[in-house]
Amino acid sequence: MDLRFHGDRELASGLVDLAVNVRTAPLPAWLAEPIAASLADLSRYPDQGPARAAVAARHGRPVEEVLLTAGASEAFTLLARLASTALVVHPQYTEPEAALRACGARVDRHILRADNGFRLDVGSVPHDYLVLGNPTNPTSVLHPAEDIARLARPGRLLVVDEAFADTVPGEPASLAARRDVPGLVVVRSLTKTWGLAGLRLGYLLAPPGVVASVAQHVPPWNVSTPALAAMLACASPSAVAAEHGIAIELAGQRAHLIAALRQVPGVTVVGEPTSSFVLIRVPDGTRVRRALRERGFAVRRGDTFPGLGADWLRLAVRDTATTDAFVQVLTDVMEAAHVG
Ligand SMILES: Cc1ncc(COP(=O)(O)O)c(C=O)c1O
Repeated sequence: MDLRFHGDRELASGLVDLAVNVRTAPLPAWLAEPIAASLADLSRYPDQGPARAAVAARHGRPVEEVLLTAGASEAFTLLARLASTALVVHPQYTEPEAALRACGARVDRHILRADNGFRLDVGSVPHDYLVLGNPTNPTSVLHPAEDIARLARPGRLLVVDEAFADTVPGEPASLAARRDVPGLVVVRSLTKTWGLAGLRLGYLLAPPGVVASVAQHVPPWNVSTPALAAMLACASPSAVAAEHGIAIELAGQRAHLIAALRQVPGVTVVGEPTSSFVLIRVPDGTRVRRALRERGFAVRRGDTFPGLGADWLRLAVRDTATTDAFVQVLTDVMEAAHVG
C-alpha cells in the first residue's frame, strides 16, 4: 500500500477536481494583499515572531506552545522523531504513519469499523505515541473532544490532526485551546480552507517542553516570508469569523451533496460526514472511478487508506452546480452497471 499516495495524483488537465480537499475559491483581498506585499521583502530572512504571536493569541495560548511549520505535513515529520511505539488510528491521512515508519518507530494500526460509523473505539493500549484525525480524512467523521482527551496518558504524545477542524462551524470538537490534557499535540493546517496548499503553512500546539524538543530538528527558516504573511492574516479575529462563515456555507453544500448521493442506486454514504469531503461506498469501485474519469471527474481512490478498499471513494464538497453535474454522471455510471 502506497502511504505516500495523495489526492493530487488523481488530477489531470481537463478533469473536474473532486479528489483534493482544498477549497478553490479565489483568495479574499485581505489575504492576497499581504502575501503579495511580502514579495517586496524576500531579501530578508523570514521572521516568525509576529505570526507565532498571532497564532498563539488565536488559540489563547502562550507563544512557547506554538511551533510554525511548512504545512501540517512537516509537523508530522518532525513529531515522528519523538515516537518509539506508535498507534495510528485508521482510516486516516497516511503521512503521519509514513513519517513514523521513516523514523524507525514501531507502528501498530487500530482500524475503526465502517459498520460502527468509524466511531472511536480505542481501548487501553501501551503506545507512547498515538495519532488520529479530527474531523478525520477520509471518513469525514468528527469524534467528540472528550473521547479523544481520555486517550491521553502521562508519558504518551497524543497527536490530533486538526487540519480540517475549521471546516466544522464553531469547531465544537477542537482541542486546540486545551492545556490541561497531558502530552496533547494539536496539528493545524491553513492550506485547506484558505486554498493555500502551494504556500505550505501550518503549525502545532503542544506543551512547551514538546515544542522545545521538536524545535531542535526544525530546519532554519522553515516557513517562508509569504507563508508567514498569510499566517498572520489568517489568525486575525476577522479571518476566524470569515472561516466560520465558510464552514456554514460548506455545511449547506455538503447537505446538498449527501441528499443527492442518497438518491443514486448502489451508493452508500457511511457515518455522518462533517467536513469538506464525503466518503462513499459503491460496488465495483475501480470500474466506477475509471468511468467517472472518462466522463471528466477525478475522485479520490479509497484503496490507499488502511481499513478501506477499492469500493470506497472520497468526494470533495463543491458548489451545488458542480455537485449536480457530478451526481448526474455518477447516476449514469451506476445505472450502466445494471444495464451491462
Ligand atoms: C487530514 C490531513 N491532515 C494534514 C494534511 C496535510 O496538510 P498540509 O497541506 O498542511 O501539509 C492533509 C492533506 O491532505 C490531510 O488530509
